[in-house]
Amino acid sequence: MSFSTLDVDCDDDGLVTVTINRPDSLNALNAQVMDDLDLCFADMEADSSVRGVVITGSGSKAFVAGADITRFASLDAESGEAFALKGQRIFHRIENFSRAVIAAVNGFALGGGCELAMACHIRIASETARFGQPEVNLGILPGYGGSQRLPRLVGKGIAAEMILSGEMISARRAYEIGLVNLVVPADELLDAALAKLKTIAAKAPLAIAYSLEALRFSDLPLEEGLRKEAELFGKACATEDSVEGATAFLEKRAPSFKGR
Ligand code: COA
Repeated sequence: MSFSTLDVDCDDDGLVTVTINRPDSLNALNAQVMDDLDLCFADMEADSSVRGVVITGSGSKAFVAGADITRFASLDAESGEAFALKGQRIFHRIENFSRAVIAAVNGFALGGGCELAMACHIRIASETARFGQPEVNLGILPGYGGSQRLPRLVGKGIAAEMILSGEMISARRAYEIGLVNLVVPADELLDAALAKLKTIAAKAPLAIAYSLEALRFSDLPLEEGLRKEAELFGKACATEDSVEGATAFLEKRAPSFKGR
Protein backbone atom coordinates (compact mmCIF):
# COMPACT_ATOMS: atom_id res chain seq x y z
CA MET A 1 0.00 0.00 0.00
CA SER A 2 1.51 3.31 -1.06
CA PHE A 3 -0.20 6.72 -0.94
CA SER A 4 1.05 10.21 -1.72
CA THR A 5 -0.40 11.78 1.44
CA LEU A 6 -0.22 8.87 3.89
CA ASP A 7 2.65 6.94 5.41
CA VAL A 8 1.48 3.42 6.13
CA ASP A 9 3.58 1.22 8.37
CA CYS A 10 2.64 -2.33 9.35
CA ASP A 11 4.51 -4.13 12.16
CA ASP A 12 5.06 -7.90 12.50
CA ASP A 13 1.85 -8.25 14.53
CA GLY A 14 -0.33 -6.71 11.81
CA LEU A 15 -0.73 -3.40 13.68
CA VAL A 16 -0.83 -0.60 11.11
CA THR A 17 0.14 3.03 11.76
CA VAL A 18 -1.36 5.43 9.22
CA THR A 19 0.30 8.87 9.37
CA ILE A 20 -1.32 11.76 7.50
CA ASN A 21 1.64 13.47 5.91
CA ARG A 22 1.05 17.11 4.94
CA PRO A 23 2.92 18.85 7.75
CA ASP A 24 3.27 22.15 5.85
CA SER A 25 -0.54 22.46 5.92
CA LEU A 26 -0.82 21.00 9.42
CA ASN A 27 -2.09 17.77 7.79
CA ALA A 28 -5.24 19.49 6.51
CA LEU A 29 -7.60 17.09 4.74
CA ASN A 30 -7.53 17.98 1.04
CA ALA A 31 -9.24 15.82 -1.61
CA GLN A 32 -6.13 13.68 -2.06
CA VAL A 33 -5.89 12.86 1.67
CA MET A 34 -9.58 11.94 1.72
CA ASP A 35 -9.23 9.72 -1.36
CA ASP A 36 -6.12 8.11 0.11
CA LEU A 37 -7.86 7.43 3.44
CA ASP A 38 -10.81 5.92 1.56
CA LEU A 39 -8.63 3.57 -0.47
CA CYS A 40 -6.31 2.77 2.43
CA PHE A 41 -9.20 1.65 4.66
CA ALA A 42 -10.81 -0.30 1.79
CA ASP A 43 -7.49 -2.12 1.24
CA MET A 44 -7.03 -2.81 4.95
CA GLU A 45 -10.61 -4.08 5.33
CA ALA A 46 -9.87 -6.68 2.65
CA ASP A 47 -6.55 -7.67 4.25
CA SER A 48 -7.10 -10.16 7.07
CA SER A 49 -3.48 -9.78 8.25
CA VAL A 50 -4.33 -6.26 9.50
CA ARG A 51 -5.19 -6.58 13.21
CA GLY A 52 -5.80 -2.91 14.07
CA VAL A 53 -4.98 0.64 13.03
CA VAL A 54 -3.55 3.76 14.65
CA ILE A 55 -4.14 7.07 12.84
CA THR A 56 -1.88 10.01 13.63
CA GLY A 57 -0.53 13.20 12.04
CA SER A 58 3.00 13.95 10.90
CA GLY A 59 5.12 16.46 12.79
CA SER A 60 4.68 17.53 16.39
CA LYS A 61 2.21 20.36 15.86
CA ALA A 62 -0.95 18.89 14.38
CA PHE A 63 -2.98 15.73 14.18
CA VAL A 64 -5.19 17.33 11.49
CA ALA A 65 -5.99 21.08 11.44
CA GLY A 66 -9.24 20.51 9.57
CA ALA A 67 -10.54 20.12 6.07
CA ASP A 68 -8.43 22.09 3.61
CA ILE A 69 -9.80 25.63 3.78
CA THR A 70 -8.32 26.64 0.40
CA ARG A 71 -11.33 25.09 -1.42
CA PHE A 72 -14.09 26.46 0.80
CA ALA A 73 -14.79 29.85 -0.84
CA SER A 74 -15.69 28.19 -4.15
CA LEU A 75 -18.32 25.82 -2.71
CA ASP A 76 -22.04 26.48 -3.33
CA ALA A 77 -25.09 24.71 -1.90
CA GLU A 78 -24.81 21.71 -4.21
CA SER A 79 -21.03 21.23 -4.16
CA GLY A 80 -20.94 21.95 -0.41
CA GLU A 81 -23.45 19.20 0.31
CA ALA A 82 -21.56 16.79 -1.95
CA PHE A 83 -18.31 17.75 -0.16
CA ALA A 84 -19.88 16.93 3.23
CA LEU A 85 -21.45 13.68 2.00
CA LYS A 86 -18.16 12.45 0.60
CA GLY A 87 -16.32 13.14 3.87
CA GLN A 88 -19.10 11.54 5.88
CA ARG A 89 -18.96 8.41 3.72
CA ILE A 90 -15.20 8.06 4.19
CA PHE A 91 -15.36 8.62 7.97
CA HIS A 92 -18.24 6.13 8.10
CA ARG A 93 -15.94 3.57 6.48
CA ILE A 94 -13.39 4.20 9.25
CA GLU A 95 -16.02 3.97 11.99
CA ASN A 96 -17.34 0.73 10.45
CA PHE A 97 -13.88 -0.84 10.14
CA SER A 98 -14.04 -4.38 11.51
CA ARG A 99 -10.87 -4.09 13.58
CA ALA A 100 -10.06 -1.44 16.22
CA VAL A 101 -9.05 2.03 15.01
CA ILE A 102 -7.31 4.33 17.50
CA ALA A 103 -6.66 8.04 16.92
CA ALA A 104 -3.30 9.09 18.37
CA VAL A 105 -3.94 12.82 18.56
CA ASN A 106 -0.55 14.51 18.55
CA GLY A 107 -1.52 18.20 18.26
CA PHE A 108 -4.31 20.31 16.77
CA ALA A 109 -7.45 18.26 16.02
CA LEU A 110 -9.71 20.94 14.58
CA GLY A 111 -12.79 20.75 12.39
CA GLY A 112 -12.36 17.70 10.16
CA GLY A 113 -9.45 16.65 12.41
CA CYS A 114 -11.68 16.45 15.47
CA GLU A 115 -14.30 14.71 13.30
CA LEU A 116 -11.73 12.18 12.06
CA ALA A 117 -10.68 11.44 15.65
CA MET A 118 -14.34 10.96 16.61
CA ALA A 119 -14.88 8.48 13.75
CA CYS A 120 -12.13 6.32 15.33
CA HIS A 121 -13.18 3.87 18.05
CA ILE A 122 -10.76 5.14 20.72
CA ARG A 123 -8.90 8.44 21.12
CA ILE A 124 -5.58 8.84 22.91
CA ALA A 125 -4.14 12.38 23.07
CA SER A 126 -0.77 13.90 23.82
CA GLU A 127 -0.71 16.55 26.55
CA THR A 128 -0.17 19.13 23.81
CA ALA A 129 -3.25 18.20 21.76
CA ARG A 130 -6.00 20.77 21.23
CA PHE A 131 -9.51 19.98 20.04
CA GLY A 132 -12.18 22.16 18.47
CA GLN A 133 -14.92 22.61 15.90
CA PRO A 134 -14.04 26.13 14.68
CA GLU A 135 -16.18 26.05 11.51
CA VAL A 136 -18.39 28.94 12.67
CA ASN A 137 -15.30 31.16 12.38
CA LEU A 138 -15.47 30.42 8.63
CA GLY A 139 -19.21 30.93 8.29
CA ILE A 140 -19.98 27.21 8.09
CA LEU A 141 -20.69 24.32 10.46
CA PRO A 142 -19.15 20.87 10.92
CA GLY A 143 -19.79 18.77 7.80
CA TYR A 144 -17.91 15.52 8.40
CA GLY A 145 -20.14 14.32 11.26
CA GLY A 146 -19.14 16.73 14.05
CA SER A 147 -22.66 17.93 14.86
CA GLN A 148 -23.73 14.29 15.29
CA ARG A 149 -20.76 12.44 16.80
CA LEU A 150 -19.68 15.17 19.26
CA PRO A 151 -23.03 15.31 21.14
CA ARG A 152 -23.13 11.51 21.19
CA LEU A 153 -19.69 11.45 22.84
CA VAL A 154 -19.85 14.41 25.23
CA GLY A 155 -23.56 15.35 25.49
CA LYS A 156 -25.54 18.03 23.71
CA GLY A 157 -24.73 20.94 26.03
CA ILE A 158 -20.95 20.71 25.80
CA ALA A 159 -21.14 19.91 22.07
CA ALA A 160 -23.26 23.04 21.59
CA GLU A 161 -20.69 25.10 23.51
CA MET A 162 -17.83 23.83 21.32
CA ILE A 163 -19.67 24.06 17.99
CA LEU A 164 -21.31 27.46 18.62
CA SER A 165 -18.28 29.20 20.18
CA GLY A 166 -15.68 27.61 17.91
CA GLU A 167 -13.33 27.66 20.92
CA MET A 168 -10.52 25.14 21.28
CA ILE A 169 -10.17 22.95 24.35
CA SER A 170 -7.07 21.38 25.89
CA ALA A 171 -6.31 17.66 25.99
CA ARG A 172 -7.04 17.69 29.75
CA ARG A 173 -10.49 19.23 29.16
CA ALA A 174 -11.11 16.75 26.31
CA TYR A 175 -10.41 13.96 28.82
CA GLU A 176 -12.74 15.51 31.42
CA ILE A 177 -15.67 15.62 28.99
CA GLY A 178 -15.08 12.11 27.63
CA LEU A 179 -13.86 13.16 24.21
CA VAL A 180 -10.58 11.29 24.71
CA ASN A 181 -9.87 8.07 26.60
CA LEU A 182 -6.37 8.87 27.80
CA VAL A 183 -3.83 11.73 27.84
CA VAL A 184 -0.11 10.92 27.79
CA PRO A 185 3.15 12.87 27.37
CA ALA A 186 3.82 13.63 23.69
CA ASP A 187 6.83 11.31 23.46
CA GLU A 188 4.77 8.37 24.77
CA LEU A 189 1.77 8.84 22.47
CA LEU A 190 2.46 6.32 19.71
CA ASP A 191 3.68 3.67 22.14
CA ALA A 192 0.53 4.13 24.25
CA ALA A 193 -1.72 3.83 21.18
CA LEU A 194 0.10 0.76 19.88
CA ALA A 195 0.09 -0.86 23.33
CA LYS A 196 -3.71 -0.46 23.54
CA LEU A 197 -4.07 -1.81 20.01
CA LYS A 198 -1.87 -4.80 20.88
CA THR A 199 -4.08 -5.60 23.88
CA ILE A 200 -7.16 -5.55 21.63
CA ALA A 201 -5.48 -7.50 18.80
CA ALA A 202 -4.70 -10.36 21.22
CA LYS A 203 -8.44 -11.06 21.63
CA ALA A 204 -10.56 -13.26 19.37
CA PRO A 205 -10.88 -11.34 16.09
CA LEU A 206 -14.56 -12.19 15.56
CA ALA A 207 -15.39 -11.17 19.14
CA ILE A 208 -13.78 -7.81 18.41
CA ALA A 209 -15.63 -7.41 15.09
CA TYR A 210 -18.98 -8.33 16.69
CA SER A 211 -18.28 -6.00 19.64
CA LEU A 212 -17.58 -3.12 17.25
CA GLU A 213 -20.81 -3.95 15.41
CA ALA A 214 -22.79 -4.05 18.66
CA LEU A 215 -21.32 -0.71 19.76
CA ARG A 216 -22.54 0.85 16.52
CA PHE A 217 -26.10 0.01 17.60
CA SER A 218 -25.73 1.83 20.93
CA ASP A 219 -27.29 4.95 19.36
CA LEU A 220 -30.48 3.04 18.53
CA PRO A 221 -33.46 2.68 20.88
CA LEU A 222 -32.47 0.26 23.69
CA GLU A 223 -34.84 -2.53 22.60
CA GLU A 224 -33.38 -2.56 19.11
CA GLY A 225 -29.80 -2.43 20.38
CA LEU A 226 -30.42 -5.28 22.83
CA ARG A 227 -31.96 -7.40 20.05
CA LYS A 228 -28.88 -6.82 17.93
CA GLU A 229 -26.58 -7.63 20.86
CA ALA A 230 -28.34 -10.99 21.40
CA GLU A 231 -28.03 -11.81 17.70
CA LEU A 232 -24.30 -11.03 17.70
CA PHE A 233 -23.82 -12.91 20.99
CA GLY A 234 -25.35 -15.97 19.32
CA LYS A 235 -23.00 -15.60 16.35
CA ALA A 236 -20.01 -15.33 18.69
CA CYS A 237 -21.10 -18.49 20.55
CA ALA A 238 -21.00 -20.37 17.22
CA THR A 239 -17.30 -19.57 16.64
CA GLU A 240 -14.43 -21.98 17.28
CA ASP A 241 -12.73 -19.20 19.24
CA SER A 242 -15.54 -19.08 21.80
CA VAL A 243 -15.00 -22.79 22.53
CA GLU A 244 -11.24 -22.19 22.71
CA GLY A 245 -11.71 -19.17 25.03
CA ALA A 246 -13.82 -21.03 27.56
CA THR A 247 -11.72 -24.21 27.33
CA ALA A 248 -8.47 -22.30 27.82
CA PHE A 249 -9.92 -20.54 30.87
CA LEU A 250 -10.97 -23.83 32.46
CA GLU A 251 -7.60 -25.43 31.62
CA LYS A 252 -5.83 -22.37 33.13
CA ARG A 253 -3.86 -21.61 29.96
CA ALA A 254 -3.70 -18.73 27.48
CA PRO A 255 -6.18 -19.09 24.61
CA SER A 256 -4.97 -19.55 21.06
CA PHE A 257 -7.48 -17.73 18.88
CA LYS A 258 -7.78 -18.53 15.18
CA GLY A 259 -10.34 -15.96 14.00
CA ARG A 260 -12.89 -18.69 13.25
N1 COA B 1 -6.55 24.19 5.61
C1 COA B 1 -5.55 24.61 4.83
N2 COA B 1 -4.38 25.08 5.31
C2 COA B 1 -4.23 25.11 6.64
C3 COA B 1 -5.23 24.68 7.52
C4 COA B 1 -6.44 24.20 6.95
N3 COA B 1 -7.44 23.74 7.69
N4 COA B 1 -4.80 24.84 8.78
C5 COA B 1 -3.57 25.34 8.69
N5 COA B 1 -3.22 25.51 7.41
C6 COA B 1 -1.94 26.03 6.88
C7 COA B 1 -1.84 27.53 7.10
O1 COA B 1 -2.52 28.23 6.07
C8 COA B 1 -0.35 27.71 7.04
O2 COA B 1 0.08 27.68 5.70
P1 COA B 1 1.22 28.70 5.17
O3 COA B 1 2.45 28.32 5.96
O4 COA B 1 1.32 28.38 3.72
O5 COA B 1 0.73 30.07 5.48
C9 COA B 1 0.19 26.45 7.70
O6 COA B 1 -0.88 25.50 7.64
C10 COA B 1 0.55 26.65 9.15
O7 COA B 1 -0.57 27.21 9.82
P2 COA B 1 -0.51 28.59 10.67
O8 COA B 1 -1.89 29.14 10.72
O9 COA B 1 0.56 29.49 10.16
O10 COA B 1 -0.05 28.01 12.09
P3 COA B 1 -0.38 28.65 13.51
O11 COA B 1 0.45 27.90 14.49
O12 COA B 1 -0.27 30.12 13.49
O13 COA B 1 -1.92 28.29 13.78
C11 COA B 1 -3.86 26.88 13.77
C12 COA B 1 -2.34 26.96 13.87
C13 COA B 1 -4.26 25.41 13.73
C14 COA B 1 -4.49 27.54 15.01
C15 COA B 1 -4.33 27.61 12.49
O14 COA B 1 -3.60 27.11 11.40
C16 COA B 1 -5.80 27.43 12.16
O15 COA B 1 -6.63 28.07 12.80
N6 COA B 1 -6.12 26.61 11.15
C17 COA B 1 -7.45 26.43 10.66
C18 COA B 1 -8.25 25.58 11.62
C19 COA B 1 -9.68 25.43 11.12
O16 COA B 1 -10.44 26.40 11.05
N7 COA B 1 -10.06 24.20 10.81
C20 COA B 1 -11.39 23.87 10.43
C21 COA B 1 -11.54 23.87 8.97
S1 COA B 1 -13.18 23.38 8.58
